[in-house]
Amino acid sequence: MAASLGLPRPKIAINGGFLRVLRRVVAYWRAIVVVLLIFALAAAIVLHGQFVSFELLSLALLLIFMASQIFWIGRVVDLGERLLGRRVCRQRVAIGVVLAYLFVITYSYPEWALGHTIRASDYRLQGILIHAAFWWWFVGSMLAFVLIITFGILDRAVRATRWIYRKACQAFRPMTASDAAVSDCPSSSGRRRFLEQTAVLMSATPFVAAGYGLLYERLDVEIVRERARLARLPKAFEGFRVALLSDIHLSPFANADYIRRCVTITNSLKPDLIALTGDYVAWDPEDQFEVVRVLAGLRAPHGVFGCMGNHEADTEIEDSITQLFASHGIRMLRQQRVPITMGDEVVNVIGTDHGRGIAPEHMQRVRQQRLQQLKALVMPNTVNILLIHYPFFFGDPELDIDLTLAGDLHGGGQLSLDSVHRGLNLARLLGVPYVRGWHEKDGALLYMNRGIGTTGFPIRLGARPEITVFELVRGV
Ligand SMILES: [Fe+2]
Repeated sequence: MAASLGLPRPKIAINGGFLRVLRRVVAYWRAIVVVLLIFALAAAIVLHGQFVSFELLSLALLLIFMASQIFWIGRVVDLGERLLGRRVCRQRVAIGVVLAYLFVITYSYPEWALGHTIRASDYRLQGILIHAAFWWWFVGSMLAFVLIITFGILDRAVRATRWIYRKACQAFRPMTASDAAVSDCPSSSGRRRFLEQTAVLMSATPFVAAGYGLLYERLDVEIVRERARLARLPKAFEGFRVALLSDIHLSPFANADYIRRCVTITNSLKPDLIALTGDYVAWDPEDQFEVVRVLAGLRAPHGVFGCMGNHEADTEIEDSITQLFASHGIRMLRQQRVPITMGDEVVNVIGTDHGRGIAPEHMQRVRQQRLQQLKALVMPNTVNILLIHYPFFFGDPELDIDLTLAGDLHGGGQLSLDSVHRGLNLARLLGVPYVRGWHEKDGALLYMNRGIGTTGFPIRLGARPEITVFELVRGV
């Protein structure tokens, strides 16, 4: 219009360098996606068999995320072109999509520059909606991308196998006229349509699933009732009930009302003792006041005890939250023990800190120190129950712990298909040995609780929030 009126054409605000890069990304997106996936695979191979290194895990996820987003931007541009026709050039649609991305990310995470990856402490409705939309897209688009890539690889493998088979047949017998017709004919339109419909369905399913995990499963608390068989349980403790809550992570997506509901559920289970295994806040130290106020509603005749998680260490609130809990009658066990008595008989409950992940050598030193402290806290010839955020010392022959209660991994990264197959769990894929449920080693028991809150994405799929209630029984 400006040109037709003889006015100078307005300058595009985005410089030519950015446009050139974008044009190349749009042109070579397949190659970029492949390269990113190869790097992500390399990072995953380095990770495999070790405990999760957060930086490497983040790198692998970032690379897959980048690959998936380039893929999806391409698809959105295709869709825009299909809907708007050729009137709007691909480049402008691509720029619009990239700008929308940048807006959501900078709006959602202005604290990135302050060193926090995610600080979901924005309780305003618009903030919550943008966070929710961002994470829904993040999880849905990543899963759909992985599915499409897998489907694409399988499709190509089938086509390659058919091609080899046809060539082999031709080599062994002369080609007839009908064979030639079949081999010359382009892939049937029916098959092509079927593949397209399957791809569309496959792409849509993860988005629907992510929506379900965001809106429903994230808050769908499951009460898990378990029996803990302990060989040397004193008779007086037969039938003693311990409730376990972990990974509360107060945040806009596990707010005070939701946690209050979990407190009410826990109290209704009439436990004799309540155990808390850390991660009371998500990323905001200010949330410690609210979460303690809500958890102060927990009631059990033998008391409420807990330990520190990594989020208390990372937000540097271990001392302050311990004092806050104490002022409400909840005792955090920090390299400490408390004997629980029934008549003349005793069960020893121990708690220890998770510690802060600074450097591996530092963590190793801290763990060695913790191990020595725990050895001094164990009571001989007594049932020892350890509350610890992640079970670093499970099965350690130097420690005589009967039952370890822990959390930390949210059922395996909050996304799990291990009801379908045990290996379909993010944490297990990364080689983490203890993810959810029961584990046993040389007679020692470990239970990994899935937690009730979320960190990172506020979505749970196949890993419902969990409140566990154990009935202690004698036996092996
Ligand atoms: Fe956690």
